[in-house]
Amino acid sequence: MNREDFKILYQEVYKRPLVYLDNAATTQKPQVVIDALSKYYETINSNIHRGVHFLSQKATDQFEEARRVVQRFINAGESAEVIFTRGTTESINLISSSFGKAFFQKGDEIIISQMEHHANIVPWQLIAEEKGATLKVLPFDENGILLIDQLESLITFKTKIVAITHISNSLGTINPVKKIIDIAHRHDIPVMIDGAQAVSHLKVDVQALDCDFYCFSGHKLYAPMGIGVMYGKRKWLDQMPPYQGGGEMISQVTIAKTIFNELPFKFEAGTPAVGDVIGLKTAIEYVENRGIENIAQYEQTLLEAATQKLLAIQGLKIYGTAPHKAAIISFLLEGIHPYDVGVIIDHCGVAVRTGHHCTQPIMDKFSIAGTVRASFAFYNDLSDVDALVEAVKKAQMMLG
Ligand SMILES: Cc1ncc(COP(=O)(O)O)c(C=O)c1O
Repeated sequence: MNREDFKILYQEVYKRPLVYLDNAATTQKPQVVIDALSKYYETINSNIHRGVHFLSQKATDQFEEARRVVQRFINAGESAEVIFTRGTTESINLISSSFGKAFFQKGDEIIISQMEHHANIVPWQLIAEEKGATLKVLPFDENGILLIDQLESLITFKTKIVAITHISNSLGTINPVKKIIDIAHRHDIPVMIDGAQAVSHLKVDVQALDCDFYCFSGHKLYAPMGIGVMYGKRKWLDQMPPYQGGGEMISQVTIAKTIFNELPFKFEAGTPAVGDVIGLKTAIEYVENRGIENIAQYEQTLLEAATQKLLAIQGLKIYGTAPHKAAIISFLLEGIHPYDVGVIIDHCGVAVRTGHHCTQPIMDKFSIAGTVRASFAFYNDLSDVDALVEAVKKAQMMLG
């Protein structure tokens, strides 16, 4: 499916055709995104919002148009609720720091899950330490399914926020975030969703979900690295202090006092990554043209084929066997270290990731050091699945 738009895939590594199955780490960029970046730098590069000159206005128009494209993509109520950041990690740090400053007090509680990426654990630990708050953890079962029946019992009158991943980057589990949001909202608790792995695999509608915050990275959505999004409901953003101080986020500065700018600029200090924002807009339009539902359906066929073929290998165990999964497969070969498997697979030309995938609590739960993870995108096909399976078999033969 549209592989020809991704020139990088047509190369050899170790004299083998490259098979790129590390899409959960970052996706490749279609030519239109690369062209949009070059065109921006070749024709309109300028600082935005500040200049009256032609190029500055053109850059500003495209930057703000990109905000509206993101708004449409996630169905935000207004474009001012879309804040550009460097990525999911910065988005979550922004929320934890700013929301925490505004609302956390000593003894308050933050609920996360046992399957969070470190980016949705550490920022909460930092603010918890600063404010004297504590973290509570929603566990998952042997299949990698969140035990959401336990959520209600974790909630107390001290709970200030629930922060949960939409899709687990290690297990592939698609969490029932709407249910989680509904439960939390019954107790008037806001919910932040880490959508880093979700936006490229399923349709996200922040108003239908009714989430309070939603974060994602452009680079996992076929856009450039260094650009991301923090969506927040205006009712929260208006009450939260700025995350960083500097240019653009102010309305008026005297040495005595600063009046902050309105949304979204209050949270966008300094010169933003204008070219990357335009790249993100182009990537979103590219995905929309292909249809996120078509992408999801196609990736499911890859997931099913890869799961079946891998499970046919004796001694191979998949971690993350929820029925509702994105095209991410973590596995181990009995008695063989994942790193060794990864090295041999790599020498067969197949790019996978090995290690804990920044989710050490998941590895602790299974008492393992790490896994081998293959993650698919719509430009992969069944020949990539076969290449993976052959490479895993070879690794087993050589190391077993
Ligand atoms: C679920 C999840 N959350 C957060 C992140 C962090 O994203 P980034 O490094 O783009 O900020 C990742 C990246 O792998 C992820 O998979």
